[in-house]
This record gives sequence, C-alpha cells and structure tokens, in this order.
Amino acid sequence: MSFPATRLRRLRRTGALRDLTRETTLSVDDLVLPLFVAPEALPNERLPGLQRHAVDGVVREVEELVRLGVPAVILFGLPEEKDEEGSGAWIEDGIVQRALRALRPRFPELVLMTDVCLCEYTSHGHCGVVDADGHVSNDASVDLLVRTAVSHVDAGADVVCPSDMMDGRIGAVREALPETPIVAYSAKYASSFYGPFRDVADSAPSFGDRRGYQMDPGNVREALRECELDAAEGADVLMVKPALPYLDVLRAVRDRFDLPLAAYNVSGEYAMVKAAAAAGDLDERAAAVESLTSIRRAGADLIFTYWAKEFASWL
Ligand code: PBG
Repeated sequence: MSFPATRLRRLRRTGALRDLTRETTLSVDDLVLPLFVAPEALPNERLPGLQRHAVDGVVREVEELVRLGVPAVILFGLPEEKDEEGSGAWIEDGIVQRALRALRPRFPELVLMTDVCLCEYTSHGHCGVVDADGHVSNDASVDLLVRTAVSHVDAGADVVCPSDMMDGRIGAVREALPETPIVAYSAKYASSFYGPFRDVADSAPSFGDRRGYQMDPGNVREALRECELDAAEGADVLMVKPALPYLDVLRAVRDRFDLPLAAYNVSGEYAMVKAAAAAGDLDERAAAVESLTSIRRAGADLIFTYWAKEFASWL
C-alpha cells in the first residue's frame, strides 16, 4: 500500500497519538549519574554534572538524587596523593572507599557503582602501572585493578565497572568477586571526547596517550571481539563508550549479544551541547533528550550520563 491510502502523518497528528506509537522511550530508571569525590569540593557552574564533591557533600547530593528518582550513581575518586602504582585506588581509607562507607548505610536502595581504574590515582596518569620501558604493563595492572574492585565491594559497592581496558581484567575480577555484577567497559575507544572528564578527574596522562590500551576509533569488529571476551570472562553488562560518535557500535553489539548493554554518554558529548546552548545555538533540554533517545534507539538499555540529575528534575 502506498499513498494516498497510506499516510504516515495520521499517527503524528496529536501528542497523545505520537506518545502511544513511540518506539523508543526514555526514563530516569535507565540512567546512571557519574559523581566525583575529592578531598575538597570544586563547583562547576558551566558543567554542573562535572563538579567535585567532598565526602559530606556527596551525601547531600545523593539525598537530592534519590528524592528526584535517580536510581544509580557511579563513583570516581580523586586521591589526596598520587603515586606510581595508584595506591589511592585500593587502600582501605581511599576516597571512594570512604564515600561508599558514608553512602551505603544511608541509601540502601540506591545502586552504588564504582569506576575501577588507576588513572586518577597514578602519578603518570595512565590506567595501569608503567614498566621500565614506559609501557603500561598488562598483568601487573590487572592485579591492582582486582585489588581495587575488591576494596570497593568491601566498602559497600553493588556493582564494579572496570574501565582500564587491560586484557583479562574481567576474568580476574570475576574470579575474585563471584557474586558482584560487573559492568565491563568492553568497547572503550581512545577518544578525544574525554577532555572535560580528565580536567575534573585530573587524570590526563603525563606522557604519551591511551592508544596502547583503548580502542582505535576506526574499529567495530574488534569491539565485538572485546565484547565476546568480556562476556566469556563473566561480565554481566557490556558497555560502549563514548556513545554518540559510536551509535553504530552500540547497534552492532545489541544485534550480536543478549547481555544488557550500557552506553557512556561522555563528558565531551555533554559539554558540546552545553556550549552550544550557552551560545544560544541549541535548546539544551531538547538536544539532551534527543541525544539520550538516540542512544537508546541504537540499542542501549542503560545510559551513564551527566544529564541524569537534570533530566530527573525536568520530569
Ligand atoms: C577512566 C575513565 C575515563 C572516563 C571514564 N573512565 C577517562 C579516560 O579514559 O581517559 C571518561 C568519561 C567521560 O569523558 O565522561 N578511568
């Protein structure tokens, strides 16, 4: 059947008809808000999703998030001091561990996730330990990442999210934590869209770049291999990161795997819309909702996004 019998505008006539027939929906239930915990707070008026909270401040922030209906947060930490091995990532009184101990008893329903990586904690800013030749050593890094994940769970984390891109880390974390859900940053690209995050997290590498462990932006079959390995090693959720420049990767992973799929709508994606809105070129709310809807349409079940709080307050 074709025109004039078929007229697709019939179902676009009213808002209620459009709502009834929409294929992809967006709900705060599917969003995870990243939070940065640091020895001292650092507000960020331009990018409110990218501010640092002190431990007492993060408790107040989470109170508000819970009231707004945000179901989950992922914690990132800035240590007091950095060293070659990133010991601030796994020590018992590390910043994330302290935040977890403050949050866990107060918010039993909240899903507390943690980012498991060393880059915020190492003096050189790489996601693992650096050997004598200046290379990031895989297996030595995996040992420290496992230690970090275990210390997070000991302090109250519900879910751990390894983001370092070392080989074999999902299997190693799975062996140490048989009962903890793992969100694997499986297809994490060496992206230029992490800029604002690295400023807030103070995690830019002091030499070189991350292309020796994060993925090349040109590859999608390799992303499927990463997902295959992470699924086999015991991941519960696969992730593609960044989101908007990699919607095709999300779709490819969705079509191939039955695991829940996460997307990380990264700091640069958020900052681009904020900057365009501040310049008067875009309506932030409409652009944010459209971005998040696109990520869901491409196949993501859950989205890590700096808009989670703002989105919840718009409802
Ligand atoms: C690594 C990590 C990064 C992000 C999340 N986890 C940065 C990186 O790989 O350099 C970036 C998130 C964002 O840009 O929003 N611990």
